[in-house]
Amino acid sequence: MAEKNEAILREATRALEFIYKDRLSPGDREQIVNESIEHFNEHVNPGWLRYSKSVAMDTVLVEWEGTQETFKDPYGNEFVDCLGGCGANIAGHQNPEIIKAVQAQLNRHALHNPELLDPLRGYLARLVSMSAPGDLKYVHFCNEATEAIELALNFARVTSDNYFIISTVNACHGKSFGAASAAGKVAYSKSYLPKIKGVQHVEFGNSEAAEIAIMNLIAVGETVAAVIVEPIQVTAGIVIPPDNYLQQMREICDRYGVLLIIDEIQTGMGRTGTFWACEGCGVVPDILVFGKAIGGGVMPITGIITREHLWVEELVNNPWILSQPTTAGMPLACAAAIATIKLILENDIPNQIARKGDYMLAKLKVLRKKHTILLDVRGKGLLIGLEYPTPEIGRAVSEALLKRGVAIGRALNNPRVIRIEPPGVIRLKTIDTIVSKLDNAMSATAKDLALSLVQAENN
Ligand SMILES: Cc1ncc(COP(=O)(O)O)c(C=O)c1O
Repeated sequence: MAEKNEAILREATRALEFIYKDRLSPGDREQIVNESIEHFNEHVNPGWLRYSKSVAMDTVLVEWEGTQETFKDPYGNEFVDCLGGCGANIAGHQNPEIIKAVQAQLNRHALHNPELLDPLRGYLARLVSMSAPGDLKYVHFCNEATEAIELALNFARVTSDNYFIISTVNACHGKSFGAASAAGKVAYSKSYLPKIKGVQHVEFGNSEAAEIAIMNLIAVGETVAAVIVEPIQVTAGIVIPPDNYLQQMREICDRYGVLLIIDEIQTGMGRTGTFWACEGCGVVPDILVFGKAIGGGVMPITGIITREHLWVEELVNNPWILSQPTTAGMPLACAAAIATIKLILENDIPNQIARKGDYMLAKLKVLRKKHTILLDVRGKGLLIGLEYPTPEIGRAVSEALLKRGVAIGRALNNPRVIRIEPPGVIRLKTIDTIVSKLDNAMSATAKDLALSLVQAENN
């Protein structure tokens, strides 16, 4: 036992030494990279190494530090970050104002007691409610995005006392039971079948299909609690619905007394050029789900904000029904989120993103005319998708881009699409660099492709 504990202590001390170090020696760098691979293989899941490799080069990319629009591996190789933490990095890496707030709170009080009142949770709830569209008012915080979706579904069922959830094909809402059941991709839920009962999927972007589903369920004596929808299906490959889609979904929900849940986990906090994407469409949901960017790329925090009248007696009298969180909405996360909201408004990040997004889209559309392998360029704000003929070509382009120092992701639900989601604080000159490197990467990929076709013909 003593020997086992000694070994654990040695490992913990070694890891802490790396955490405390300002500068890594060449030996440290080598050690961190090699041990990261070993630890993921032995103690996390070797699958992550293959998965990461599918977006990266022949070597595994280990992320060590970051500033604003870039991150570095332990060797100091720098990459422009177009992955953007899947939307979390709206304020850039290590934003000093967010770090300052978190550090100050850390020195005072890191974790609340769920039985007591934590002032920061109150301040943040008020700020979220002030920033949310329409009469959205009451907030409940969680840690993970999928948890917030779970909460939204629970909330809809409790407050409405109705049952069915209407979701959309190819939707991404997370991987926990309810969220995976609402998600619209078989790969997300087939391993946990059967899904939760009472979820009906309809085509995304087709409000008529949603109305027919609701009508048919009601006609056979079922009840419908809510419709859940993303303003833009990000993971499905940046799928943008028709202009008035959300408005029509709002009207349909009102007509049948069904709640509208809008999942703004990826699109919120300015990502599409307005603080909330639904705000840009003039729509107020009954339940808005937020996450990712609100933590400023520093702390995990997500949640739901809902209309006041939905807080039926059962929910008010038993506030723990939704959860009595031990860690969710903790003071550190609230400090990060308060600083993030201030930073977003003070710097008018939504407007900055709208302008930068238009600038980048226009440049990418020029590339679309030049490169036949690029089938489509689409997006809103700094949420942009590039569509290629096959997943292999998409992957080859992202690998070629990574070799040129730009890290880019693919859309999990549609690997033919690569996703550009850089920090909102990205500079115009960095956008120029990305576009120029993408131009080179696509030329190189097309050349390799032509070469492999010739080789295949000769064999
Ligand atoms: C719109 C949306 N909702 C929910 C989620 C679930 O997020 P997580 O897997 O971080 O819980 C995602 C993930 O990317 C998402 O894009």
